Amino acid sequence: QAIRFDYNNVMADVIGEHGLTEAEIEAALPHAAAAIEAVYAQRADLGWMDLPYQDTSEIIAQAQAVRARADTLVVLGIGGSALGPIATQTALQHPFYNNLPRELRRGPTLFVPDNVDPELNAGLLDVLDLERTVFNVITKSGTTAETMASFIYFREALAKRLGKDKLVDHLVLTTDPKKGALRQIADREGYPTLPLPASVGGRFSELCAVGLFPAAVTGIDIDELLAGAAYADKRSQERDPRKNPAAMCALIQFLLDKKGKNMVVMMPYAQRLRDVADWFRQLWAESLGKRVDRAGNVVNVGPTPIKSLGATDQHSQVQLYAEGPFDKLMHFLFVEQFQVEAPLSNAYPDINELSYLDGKSFSQLLKAEGEATQLAIAEAGRPSIAHYFPAVNAFTLGQFYYMLEMQTAFAGELYNINAFDQPGVEAGKIATYALMGREGYDARRHEIEQARGR
Ligand code: PA5
Repeated sequence: QAIRFDYNNVMADVIGEHGLTEAEIEAALPHAAAAIEAVYAQRADLGWMDLPYQDTSEIIAQAQAVRARADTLVVLGIGGSALGPIATQTALQHPFYNNLPRELRRGPTLFVPDNVDPELNAGLLDVLDLERTVFNVITKSGTTAETMASFIYFREALAKRLGKDKLVDHLVLTTDPKKGALRQIADREGYPTLPLPASVGGRFSELCAVGLFPAAVTGIDIDELLAGAAYADKRSQERDPRKNPAAMCALIQFLLDKKGKNMVVMMPYAQRLRDVADWFRQLWAESLGKRVDRAGNVVNVGPTPIKSLGATDQHSQVQLYAEGPFDKLMHFLFVEQFQVEAPLSNAYPDINELSYLDGKSFSQLLKAEGEATQLAIAEAGRPSIAHYFPAVNAFTLGQFYYMLEMQTAFAGELYNINAFDQPGVEAGKIATYALMGREGYDARRHEIEQARGR
């Protein structure tokens, strides 16, 4: 069940002057090989690389306990602590999972309100049966303003409704095993916890308890997700970049960025993969968007990731992709086998404009639209990479997540930046703390007030 990737449509002999020549790729291969070595040299510090081989028994045991006592799971988290759980749920569950009757669902309903919008959170309270709801609070740092505010809000609602002594049955906290405010609260109030290991970065955390616990609660086979990731790990260890999809993908994007293709559009032709593109957006943006390189030189690098969806965005974005500036590389995600077919009847054989639809199916139409867009983009001289999923299932999803994580790590080496920090995000968090009056952030608040007064 390997995901196949095809970069034919980035080649200059196919798309013309905006593509890459064989000579350009050949010349850069040693750089890619060095990037592979450099990433594996850091493996001991990059805990996410070993997640495919973890023991999942504790996660599964806690998930079973929640499945027995809850009809709804609410994940409270943001960024790397929310996008993965959302993407996995969309990819592997029924498209209207929360609306299915209980006997047709594999587990409790799932909500991930990853914003501190008051209407969103108050609105969610309106629809929850708190007695049958468990909240999984996910934050690596244990202090992120948005997540901690959500925790405080829903904990208070639970306490009011059910009494403080019942809170332990309604909260599962996923956080750093040793530090942070949430860890302190867990220890003090006795909530069940799951570890978010210190060596696993936020946006690289989908394959630890962050993503696996909500997935196991809703009945997804998490060991199969990890088996897919382990398969991608094996492929990513190949030292010859030409045989290493993650390294080759990273190299192509890096080389095209150098030629002005500094936007990367991920466009799945499958509704299931819509939120995977959203997850990728964070991974690529936060990892590669950096002011300084490893030597401290100001470089201000980073391709801009964009999420798109086929066929929906053919009627919204594709005009720009085909005829706008030559600044984009497209990733098309194609699915060979959909889980269900939706056939069309012979409804209007006598109407010329519609008879071509007779006896066809949605998957035929969607596949044709994907192929047509890929062709149109290539004919317009724009580069694209195609990823072919034999099917969307736990194995291929785990494989794709891990491949994209490795691709990101390799790209970080090619750009010579640290792909694993996020000083820009941290700066925003500090400014929020300052504006909200958090103790210890007075100096920053003073600076902001002075800047406002200018
Ligand atoms: O990738 C990252 O580190 C960030 O985007 C985090 O995931 C995000 O800021 C949430 O942080 P935390 O999990 O500490 O609440």
